[in-house]
This record gives sequence, structure tokens and C-alpha cells, in this order.
Amino acid sequence: DSVLVHSPATLSNLGCGFDVLGLALAAPYDTIRVTRAAEPGVRIRHLDSYSLPTEPARNVAGMALLALLKEVPEPVGFDVEITKGIKPGSGVGSSAASAAGVVVGANALLGNRFTNLQLVDFAMAGEVVACGARHADNIAPAIFGGFTVVRALEPALDILALPAPPLWVAVVHPQIEVKTSDSRKVLPTEVPLGLAVRQWANVAGLVAGFLTADYALIGRSLDDYIVEPARLALIPGLAEARKRALAAGAIGGGISGSGPSIFMLNETETVAQAVGEALGSVFAEMGIEFNVYVGSV
Ligand code: HSE
Repeated sequence: DSVLVHSPATLSNLGCGFDVLGLALAAPYDTIRVTRAAEPGVRIRHLDSYSLPTEPARNVAGMALLALLKEVPEPVGFDVEITKGIKPGSGVGSSAASAAGVVVGANALLGNRFTNLQLVDFAMAGEVVACGARHADNIAPAIFGGFTVVRALEPALDILALPAPPLWVAVVHPQIEVKTSDSRKVLPTEVPLGLAVRQWANVAGLVAGFLTADYALIGRSLDDYIVEPARLALIPGLAEARKRALAAGAIGGGISGSGPSIFMLNETETVAQAVGEALGSVFAEMGIEFNVYVGSV
């Protein structure tokens, strides 16, 4: 018994929606084979060259699967082979993709006994390994697909899976290291009320823009007044990248997840290609190596 799962990259935060909003991309994705084994427990193998830890308790997919197995009364074992299509640390939900994909695969082999909401809960155990925080804004879109709102983690997980309008995303991943754990340490613990008001007004505008496919509303609602200013110093080139992307026709964008990638939303593939080039040009001039990804949601 074996299943093959493609688990996609995701954009989290989407500008103003820190730890709440997320969007699944069509590609890149991790390829995960989950095989039911006679021997109980979890064994992880990586078929890529990223040297990630394979001991289950130190591996994001391993931890997610162990969380799922705690809820399975019978003795069950899984062999997992992961090929990372999403570069670790790139800021497009690499850890979430592995954690989400493995629990989706295991659930299929167990007769789909768990709901998507339960799978998000298991996969979040993997995110804790990756960054020390239980956040679901990459996991939720990886599992539900499309555009998601993590409305609450407590007292019960509450996730809204919403339709997204046609969008093309351009992402630039500069080769600078930004660990999610570090980029969470720089965040303010308190927020002035005036800023909070502007921020939740934008979140409301952004969700409305997605639901009504109003690209102009999406564009003027993306700005993040709270998290991006605190992370600005970790993402060199962000201001210039945004300026050039908007000049090339992007709807808007910001830091992808906790960085260092920068994402821009676009109405068409042609614009997204031009925006991808504009984003890359900033890092080329800075002498920083980068990869550009252009794809649909
Ligand atoms: N919402 C999280 C953050 C995403 O911004 O820290 C991390 O991948």
C-alpha cells in the first residue's frame, strides 16, 4: 500500500494577514511517497540533496506523522520518501509542504479517517520543529488548496477555505539566510491601536478583494503596517523590488512568509514574467544570487 503526494508551495501572510492568510501555488511542490509498512513507527528518507535530518523527531514530516499516529489505536508503520521540490528556507512554505503532504498520504492509506482540519492540526506539529511556533497559515492552504483564512487556533481550529480569483504569482528567492525563528524574534509584542486598525481594515479589504476578484481592491489592501516594518532590515532590496514590480504591472506584494523571498501578485502570466524579471534585476545588481519562480495559484 503506497501513495504519492504532490504537496505545494504556499504563500503565507499575503502582506497584511500575518499568521492568518495563505494561498496555495500550483508549483513548485514536494513529492512524497508514503508506504504502509509491517513494522510499526515512522521511517523517513530524503531523496534530495538538502541534508535535512531524517530522525522522525527532528524532521517536520516525521513530527507531523508521529502526531497523526498518536490518534491511531492500532499498530501502524509508515515508510516515507521525500523529494523536496521546494527549497528549504525559501519562504514559500517548504516545511509546511512536507508536513502537510505526509499526513495527507498517511490518511489516504488509513481510509481517510481524519478530516482536513485534523490533518492541519497534525501537520502543525511539524511547523514547531521548523520554527518553534504553531502556525497554520502555510499548512492550511497546502491541505485545503486555494485561499485560506486561519480564523482561530484556539480553543478550536477554525479554517476558512475560500475561492481565489485567477492570479499569477512571481516570487524571487534571494540566497540570503533568514530563519523563521529569527524573523519572528524581531516582531513587536504590542501594537499601537491606530496601526492595528489600519491593518485589520486591510485584511478585510484583501479578503473582500479575493472573494469578488477585485484586483484593484487586492492591490490597495495588501500593505502590512506591523510585521513588514519589523522585518525590513532582514530583507535587503525589498523596497526597490516592490517599486520595480509595481512599475512592471504587479498588483502588489510583500515578504513571502517570514522571508527572504518576496512575492508579487499579478493578473496575467505575461505580467508575472515581466515582474519576475524586475524582481530578479534588483538582486542581480546587488550581487546576490537568486531564483525566480512564476506560476499560477
Ligand atoms: N506566518 C509565518 C511568519 C510564516 O510570518 O512568521 C512563516 O513561514
